[in-house]
Amino acid sequence: VGHIDDVQELRKAKTMAIPARFVRNMAERPTMGSTIPSSMDIPVIDMSNLLKGSRNEVLKLAASCEEWGFFQVINHEIDISLLERIEKLSMEFFMLPLEEKKKYPMLPGTVQGYGQAFVFSEDQKLDWCNMFALGVEPQFIRNLKIWPTKPIKFSETIEEYSREIRKLCKSLLKYIAIGLCLKDGIFEEMFGVAVQAVRMNYYPPCPRPDLVLGLSPHSDGSALTVLQQGQGSSIGLQILKNNIWVPVQPAPNALVINIGDTLEVLTNGKYKSVEHRAVTHMEKDRLSIVTFYAPSYETELGPLPELVDETMPCKYRRYNHGEYSKHYITNKLQGKKTLEFAK
Ligand code: SIN
Ligand code: FE2
Repeated sequence: VGHIDDVQELRKAKTMAIPARFVRNMAERPTMGSTIPSSMDIPVIDMSNLLKGSRNEVLKLAASCEEWGFFQVINHEIDISLLERIEKLSMEFFMLPLEEKKKYPMLPGTVQGYGQAFVFSEDQKLDWCNMFALGVEPQFIRNLKIWPTKPIKFSETIEEYSREIRKLCKSLLKYIAIGLCLKDGIFEEMFGVAVQAVRMNYYPPCPRPDLVLGLSPHSDGSALTVLQQGQGSSIGLQILKNNIWVPVQPAPNALVINIGDTLEVLTNGKYKSVEHRAVTHMEKDRLSIVTFYAPSYETELGPLPELVDETMPCKYRRYNHGEYSKHYITNKLQGKKTLEFAK
């Protein structure tokens, strides 16, 4: 059997048959239900307008968060060459021989390392995806045993990239706060030293994209998620909007941002963490580099009092973010189920 669950190895075997563990039940298949063409694109936020103090752009950001939970950001001030470097190195990492990647195995009870995360039982269906994830901030969540030495400069570049993405998240949270008529530093203050993790997802081509999912439907546990998609990648990300799966095609050099469960709770459901999934392509592969930005584990969370009143009764309980994180990583990805923890 060996590495039968490593999709890149399966792909190399050039077999048309999809192992049963990847074949989805009818209702879960990407061909079921409605998918609409990418005519309905997610909103585009111009960071340079936010930085210039444009009230209009703040309102547009607020509307994007409320109506979509997803938007893309352009003019984000992160060097395009850094985006290109992290993409190239991530790809080189996935192309390493399996034995090399296995030096950084997914650590039990965590979602860090190389492999398939969120798998807890033999009868659970597997995603057509290889993942490599690292906790980055604060320092104490780093497990240096799984920070790769190959390809060279990969680890350093992850650090550099993470620093830039962190600035972007702080900045976006500030404008999100302004759009909600809150103090602009409210999230930064509340979060303490924010937790940040990065995950590279590699989806090889799949001979039967109609039978499998690249990534199971889920919402993110983060406050904000930042997604970079590889330039040559197939369209793969889909978000659930009004019960329709809408494909997302990021503009070149844009970053896709989405609201996670944490912001849904803090905003008392005004902003929703939208369910999303990834599908595969018959000929093309796909790479995504995903950053999760969340409060420190000590943070006590609950709907902000400013967003609760008679017309918007409190929808979620108060809880500790560390406990929520543990809950999130010890359950399989299953739509918005993890948010039940907060009810
Ligand atoms: C994710 O939700 O973590 C990644 C989805 C994608 O690959 O676009
Ligand atoms: Fe996600």
